[in-house]
Amino acid sequence: MTSQLESLRKSSSVVADTGDIDAVARWRPQDATTNPSLLLTSAEDPRYRPLVDAALREAGNNPERAMDTLFVRFGAEILKHVAGRVSTEVDARLSFDTDQSIAKARRLVSLYEKHGIGKDRVLIKLASTWEGIRAAQQLEREGIHCNMTLLFSFAQAVACADAGVTLISPFVGRIYDWHRQARKVDDIPLEEDPGVASVARIYNYYKKHGYATQVMGASFRKTGQILALAGCDLLTIAPDLLQKLASTPGEVQKKLSAEKAKAMAIARVAMDEKTFRWMHNEDAMATDKLAEGIRRFDADARKLEKLITSLAAAEPMPAK
Ligand code: E4P
Repeated sequence: MTSQLESLRKSSSVVADTGDIDAVARWRPQDATTNPSLLLTSAEDPRYRPLVDAALREAGNNPERAMDTLFVRFGAEILKHVAGRVSTEVDARLSFDTDQSIAKARRLVSLYEKHGIGKDRVLIKLASTWEGIRAAQQLEREGIHCNMTLLFSFAQAVACADAGVTLISPFVGRIYDWHRQARKVDDIPLEEDPGVASVARIYNYYKKHGYATQVMGASFRKTGQILALAGCDLLTIAPDLLQKLASTPGEVQKKLSAEKAKAMAIARVAMDEKTFRWMHNEDAMATDKLAEGIRRFDADARKLEKLITSLAAAEPMPAK
């Protein structure tokens, strides 16, 4: 009998959410996504120390530059095992700086090009702040494709689609976490899961109004959340959940479809900066989670910088 994972692949593109290159090689997903927290975990893993050393060498032993080369080296290795794209995230410290976000994205893309990897195989991940969305709009005009992350509110989703970004990553698990904590409960049943409902609402809105922006459900806590979104354009899934789906037999029913969405009565939302800020601020969960997400990615990036700095100091290497 087919596994849930194999069955799911028929209705959604399966993406691996990890910086673990061996896991990507094992699961052979369509695309892969990384973030600073995932890359910190991989950089601390002795299996990937040669990659960290190579990144440091490439950056002339300069820890600050080595952050970019490290992200790209991991991305380039991951790309050896996927047919599609890898997502590489822009420094969270730039989340409110459009110009610097654009500059960082261009730098990451040029580093990928040095490794022989073209723009079409890379998605630049940016936080879905108003400033991040404006950066993505400009980058898309230059042919640099963007994946908008830390997306928790409907306002963020509407603004991203209006900006013509390639892909969004609406989070499921972190929304679920917030509501579980607010309600002081251990679990929320799938039928009431606000993270699942958020992605379904965004998917239906995009399909109803014919947006080309792809929807990739992200941040899952349990396989039920993934299966409840079968049919979504893409789903990025951590290796432990890929394993669970692969070891569970069963046919997966498609839950989301463009045809069904087109038949729904969904009003278009007009978005501008003031409306975005108001609507997003009205959503307490999204406001908390976006702010916390930026802090968390920043904290992990700083830990990674520390690790690189200590390696650079311990083993000075000749610049390459
Ligand atoms: C992927 O793009 C996200 O960074 C990831 O799914 C976040 O997952 P988490 O909420 O488990 O950290």
